[in-house]
Amino acid sequence: GTITFVEHDGTPHQVELEDGSSLMELATNHGVPGIDGDCGGEASCGTCHVIVDDAWIATTGTRTELESQMVEMSPECNPNSRLACQLRATAELDGLTVHLPEFQM
Ligand code: FES
Repeated sequence: GTITFVEHDGTPHQVELEDGSSLMELATNHGVPGIDGDCGGEASCGTCHVIVDDAWIATTGTRTELESQMVEMSPECNPNSRLACQLRATAELDGLTVHLPEFQM
């Protein structure tokens, strides 16, 4: 399976879905630009902000209180904003598309 990260300018990056990794790990392992993961996945840096495609929000669910505290600091916070480090890649997410904000914190 694959997950697609779409840069703000529309450039797609398709990465192999590795069950059990976080989306932040998949993105950083594959060099997706715009996802830094500075805190290593502790939900405390906000550099892994992604916006889940509308078609997928029912599958991924919405963000937790902890994620909200981080992403709401971003000027690009969207109702579908999530921290990629808090999204676990599972087989269910095969084909998922997430969008990157223009500016990462
Ligand atoms: Fe730091 Fe996700 S990697 S908040």
